[in-house]
Amino acid sequence: MKPIMEKEAAGIKTMYREVLKGLSMRPKTLPSKYFYDERGSKLFDAICDLKEYYVTRTELSIMERYMDEIVSVIGERAMLIEYGSGSSEKIKRILDAESGIEVYVPIDISREFLFENAAIIAGRYPRLEVLPVCADFSKPFDLPHPEKEIEKRVVYFPGSTIGNFHRQEARDFLRNIARVCGKDSGLIIGVDLKKDERVLHAAYNDARGLTAEFNLNQLQRLNRELGSNFDLNKFAHKALYNREAGRIEMHIVSNDKQRVNINGSVIDFEKNESIWTESSYKYHIEEFQELALQAGFHPQKVWTDERNYFSIHYLKVD
Ligand code: AVI
Repeated sequence: MKPIMEKEAAGIKTMYREVLKGLSMRPKTLPSKYFYDERGSKLFDAICDLKEYYVTRTELSIMERYMDEIVSVIGERAMLIEYGSGSSEKIKRILDAESGIEVYVPIDISREFLFENAAIIAGRYPRLEVLPVCADFSKPFDLPHPEKEIEKRVVYFPGSTIGNFHRQEARDFLRNIARVCGKDSGLIIGVDLKKDERVLHAAYNDARGLTAEFNLNQLQRLNRELGSNFDLNKFAHKALYNREAGRIEMHIVSNDKQRVNINGSVIDFEKNESIWTESSYKYHIEEFQELALQAGFHPQKVWTDERNYFSIHYLKVD
């Protein structure tokens, strides 16, 4: 077997194990990382452009408004490490603003996408040292050693992806970032805020049904990659705001009592039983700062929009 095929086979095996583990829990769950196959990533990009999904637009507007201050906290001779860099859209705006970033380390799990985008960035900013790292950023990984001399590391984690971690996981994850960046370094992180529940509800139940497609696409992916036989007409998207827990919960609900086969393993569903596919935690500013403090960061600065829908935090390691 060629190494790449071995890698793919190992990936499928892990996926099979994780999916079966999730579906044997009560409530049934699926790991949200499996949203992002090619179709899922395209659907997510389309969600970001939706009228109801204020998240991306609001974060970009905050960046635009406070770009001078963001560039100033990054400082000179900086190495900027972007977690989940994707198409590097947001970082381009910072680089265009003539920041003191000398070294850019995009980190992403999707190898092809990562190297393609790293090459685009390197072509567009010839003086920048671009050192892509293909890794699952929720697990430990090594940072590359740049040729350029740097004075500071700054981790950039936009998009409120931190909201997709349960609170304890978010704390541990932040603690890991603090370890990765080391003393005197910083973190710029986008965090979605608590707000009118109707706004939240609409953002995850859009009228065009793209979020529903994004959610149900997971079952399609399991059918294709694991050989399962989910009938997509027999499941429905559901998203609700759990006020007590402060999170949007996305579920896939079984319309009927039914049995699904996943490559020889049988999974039974009761009518209305759900698979919990994602959580998206929303924070009050102070609540997030408290979490950051517990993880070893010192809150330095917060930027928000006029409606207080979204926040970008600058945090420093002790
Ligand atoms: C990636 N993440 C921040 C999105 C969110 O809002 O939690 C994922 C998403 N799920 C449904 N719509 C968008």
